[in-house]
Amino acid sequence: MRLARAAVHDGSSSALEIQSVEVADPGPGAVLVRMGASGVCGSDRHVLDGDWTLPSPTVMGHEGAGTVEAIGAGVTDVAVGDHVILSWFYPCRRCVACLSGKAYVCTGSRSEECVLPDGSTALSRSGERIFPYLAVGSMCEYAVVPESGAIRIPNDVPFDVASLIGCSIATGFGAVTHDAAVEAGSSAVVVGSGGVGLSIIMALKLVGANPIIAVDRSAEKLEAARRLGATHTVEAGPDLADRVRELTGNGAAYAFEAIGRVETIESLPGLIAPGGKAIIVGLPPQDTPVAIDALALAESGKSLIGSNYGSTVPGRDFPRIAELYLAGKLPVDELISHRIPLEEVNEAFDAMRRGERARSVIVF
Ligand code: APR
Ligand code: ZN
Repeated sequence: MRLARAAVHDGSSSALEIQSVEVADPGPGAVLVRMGASGVCGSDRHVLDGDWTLPSPTVMGHEGAGTVEAIGAGVTDVAVGDHVILSWFYPCRRCVACLSGKAYVCTGSRSEECVLPDGSTALSRSGERIFPYLAVGSMCEYAVVPESGAIRIPNDVPFDVASLIGCSIATGFGAVTHDAAVEAGSSAVVVGSGGVGLSIIMALKLVGANPIIAVDRSAEKLEAARRLGATHTVEAGPDLADRVRELTGNGAAYAFEAIGRVETIESLPGLIAPGGKAIIVGLPPQDTPVAIDALALAESGKSLIGSNYGSTVPGRDFPRIAELYLAGKLPVDELISHRIPLEEVNEAFDAMRRGERARSVIVF
């Protein structure tokens, strides 16, 4: 057992408290990771603002990377000293989905319950049990995760970069390459240019999409979008569909929503050309249906699909993305606008609520 500083959500206030928590040793099949960095992601904000309900109290953070410090009995995938990226779902490796190469729809994982496979957690506070968000809890100096959720990467990838590969980059990369399967030369529009939207833009540049149209209501974000590969930027407004048609002729071949707002999700079909594909990447609050004109969608042969984590298979995709970063093909470091200590996490969420900052990363 060891003590660690952590950002704890008590289930009611939207502000996190920095507290000392107890971290148990890793049991069979689990890994103790000393955290190097944790991204501050929009999904954490959903939880703090009450959009999604979760068990509490919770140690927040699900986008993290660090060094394996100890391994439990039977662990063979990683060894002490390895650098790993944490995945916010741990594949069970036994269900039909896992066995058919679709770990991203694993039915055996208990990550959404924020517990290890046996229902336990390694975190507590004066004996009271604490839940690590999505069974990661990366806003803490230590995490205990199942070995299938800790993916080894080359040691020369910095932790701040590695942490972002664990959520926003994998989500954006996967939405573009797996879910949309964008071809070189295709047009694409990205609604929302925060951490996830900018990751989509980077991946669109990598696969050679053209034009790449970034949309946001913040000028700061649109500037970042241009730097990372957008060929055009459009300030969000009621004339968005017209602006996209001006730039693409008949609508984009692909449209991505990366905010998680009902209205922008509903606007997606209007942004794509007949036969085009619209992908919901941003996650809305729970129990919020969206209205779509189904006849218009069907008659124009458009597709509207959901993308969860970019259909990422962590063990396959994290190392590939790390290699793309090392080869200079995916400038993940340019997504990082702020490196902060754990104590400044509330300021980072407030900035996010104001639509500021590309991505804040907590560095331990
Ligand atoms: N129109 C256009 N842009 C908007 C609007 C709007 N009405 N509202 C918000 N935005 C922009 C913000 O300015 C910001 O740049 O959306 C972006 C959201 O980005 P972040 O807050 O950085 O959130 P991010 O981490 O990118 O997550 C986005 O993806 O994975 C999901 O749960 C996550 O739903 C969240 C979404
Ligand atoms: Zn995330």
